[in-house]
Amino acid sequence: MFRVTRQYRFAASHRLHAAGLSEEQNRVLYGKCNNPYGHGHNYVVDVSACGPTDERTGRVLDIRLLDQLVARQVLGPFEHRNLNAEVECFESVVPTSENLAAEICRRLKKNWSTAFPGEWPKLEKIRIAETTRNIFEIRTDEIE
Ligand code: NI
Repeated sequence: MFRVTRQYRFAASHRLHAAGLSEEQNRVLYGKCNNPYGHGHNYVVDVSACGPTDERTGRVLDIRLLDQLVARQVLGPFEHRNLNAEVECFESVVPTSENLAAEICRRLKKNWSTAFPGEWPKLEKIRIAETTRNIFEIRTDEIE
């Protein structure tokens, strides 16, 4: 059994501002991340899948199929976007990296069986680095 990780990058901007809190509470809570005009990140996303090595190909997964899935579900919708304004789910949910990782995980999980219809490989986890010091990880089985 192997775990295979493929790394992707995209740039996007966001503003951390919770709808249920006052302007002042948001400023205190999020600091400069609450600045009205937002700011950008170069996100690095690691997608990990696991499975046995296929006898015929000697591989755990077809990287091209994974690339197509991630391009369709993540890079296309998020690359060079303002997450608050241009990604529907973040109209009501704060686009923190926790919520971004959860959304990426949800999208890949939902569409996984279309790209990989067999029993293996299984999507295992998503890891997203917002900066080199802020890293967020979620396992597929931790999400609905
Ligand atoms: Ni930020």
